[in-house]
Amino acid sequence: MNHLLKVEGLAKSFAGSKAVDGIHFTIGEGRCMALLGPNGAGKTTTIRMITGLLEPTSGSISFRYQEPGMDRRKLIGYLPQIPAFYGWMSGKEFLVYAGRLCGMSARAAEASSKELLERVGIADAGKRRIGGYSGGMKQRLGLAQALIHKPKLLVLDEPVSALDPIGRREVMALLSELKRETTVLFSTHVLHDAEELCDDVLIMREGRIAIHGAIDEIRASNRQPVLLLETEGDERSQGWVEEWMRHQPAFVQTAEVTGSGLRLVVNDVGAARRMLLAQLAEADVRVTKLEFGHTSLEDLFIKAVAR
Ligand SMILES: Nc1ncnc2c1ncn2[C@@H]1O[C@H](COP(=O)(O)OP(=O)(O)OP(=O)(O)O)[C@@H](O)[C@H]1O
Ligand SMILES: [Mg+2]
Repeated sequence: MNHLLKVEGLAKSFAGSKAVDGIHFTIGEGRCMALLGPNGAGKTTTIRMITGLLEPTSGSISFRYQEPGMDRRKLIGYLPQIPAFYGWMSGKEFLVYAGRLCGMSARAAEASSKELLERVGIADAGKRRIGGYSGGMKQRLGLAQALIHKPKLLVLDEPVSALDPIGRREVMALLSELKRETTVLFSTHVLHDAEELCDDVLIMREGRIAIHGAIDEIRASNRQPVLLLETEGDERSQGWVEEWMRHQPAFVQTAEVTGSGLRLVVNDVGAARRMLLAQLAEADVRVTKLEFGHTSLEDLFIKAVAR
């Protein structure tokens, strides 16, 4: 696969503290990559270095279509975490202005603005002042702005986090269309959004990369058997659960008490099933549910970012 972007040893320190601590990754051309991680993980700092708005302390970023001496920003469309607009401008005026800033001719900026307003579904509001737009409309306008110069890479910093559930759905639908046309990097706190939209994930934690790769591969290689037990929650069952937690067998990787039962991640599902069924029968535990499943990407995500 061809790399559109290659990041090597990228680091950024603010007053001696490392916000991004020497990270390496690539983004394949045509792929959609989600950047995940808790508050302060370094997502925005990484994004701002990629977009050329922030000078790295060290490391390099190479872009496939960047010729020597060329400004990388020409190739990148960027929607910041908190976009700023001039409220007195109309949506259309703002897009033309953004296009002109990217070096487009007045005519090209005008044509492109008209097309993009339709594309993001706010053509009717194009002549209205941005000051009167809703959050969802502003986010759409921000997306149009990021697309005005037909970028090779679209970079979005938490594009749906400020939206209500309806606005969120609308922008997600728009993104799933856009990702067919261009390479996308977007940050989010919501794993579900990443799973819905992306091919690849990059999970950061304290300035470093915790997990990076194709979602499908990560999911497949980290799948582990999970056992879910629920009981009636009567005294005997509760006592059994407490006692069991004190003497966990070797096949258990993690065990947690969930209400009236247990949730176990195990490495040998056969052994776990045999032993548990025998123990439950012997102690005459009132089982209401015993379920065998697998860990989800969410389990992995939580494990990766846990402090
Ligand atoms: N301009 C700055 N000056 C000083 N410290 C900064 C600056 N920008 C970011 N930091 C610090 O760098 C670290 C990473 O911040 P960053 O904004 O990249 O995190 P994030 O992953 O985007 O978090 P969030 O999910 O809250 O948006 C934080 O500890 C933050 O306080
Ligand atoms: Mg951020």
